[in-house]
Amino acid sequence: MIGIIGGSGLYESFRDMSDRKTDIMHTPHGVIDYTTGSWMGERIAFIPRHGPEHDLPPHRVRFKANIWALRELGVRRLVGTCAVGTLNQKIPPGRITVPDQLIDLTKETRSFFNGRREGVRHVDMTEPFCPALREVVREVSVETGPSVHIGGTYACFSGPTFETAAEIRMVKVLGGDLVGMTLAPEAKLAREAGICYLPVCMPVNWAAGLTRELLSHKQTLEQVGQMKGELVNLIRWSLGRFPKERDCPCAREH
Ligand code: HPA
Repeated sequence: MIGIIGGSGLYESFRDMSDRKTDIMHTPHGVIDYTTGSWMGERIAFIPRHGPEHDLPPHRVRFKANIWALRELGVRRLVGTCAVGTLNQKIPPGRITVPDQLIDLTKETRSFFNGRREGVRHVDMTEPFCPALREVVREVSVETGPSVHIGGTYACFSGPTFETAAEIRMVKVLGGDLVGMTLAPEAKLAREAGICYLPVCMPVNWAAGLTRELLSHKQTLEQVGQMKGELVNLIRWSLGRFPKERDCPCAREH
């Protein structure tokens, strides 16, 4: 089973699955709506990150319940799609990007290992995203054409406001290329759960203060609307080529 967590504006895009079935799962961390089905010969479990009604802002997303539910469904390889701001001239808005590094600037800690009965574990995050899945996307993008940027550092804020211009200047100094509000908790929980995680980002705007434009969620959704066809195709052609055997840091016992 391959998992897909769909971000803003992408809920309808994975609807052409066959044997589609929508259900809910009660997890220790909340109730989750999910859809399973077949797509390109693969079994897929899809979760809308912001809830089926898109009413959960980034700081209220049920990250733990989402990852728990996917693990319970047998998912070991997970694609997370998201809209991001960009501050790297080489990654203009509109260019799909698969980052390879992460800076976590969120304020909450989310972990499956909170001591006592859950135990204490410090899981390796040197390489935060699955290098094997990223390699598949690199190959697919070369073969099928869409111009995908591979690599870059994603800096994660808690939101739900966009960043200040000073925060973006700070991210630049820290070496960040993209900013968003969701990937850090998702990637960390996926690693704790032993799931390979592949982020696929859609840069939708220059980050705060880099242009005179003010940022808006409406603009995010419009730009996602323009990019989603390309994004869905990229995922469509990549899924079947995900390695069946996992030989990456994600699968290692921690
Ligand atoms: N910052 C954070 N999250 C975002 C942005 C941004 O500029 N654009 C889309 N999601």
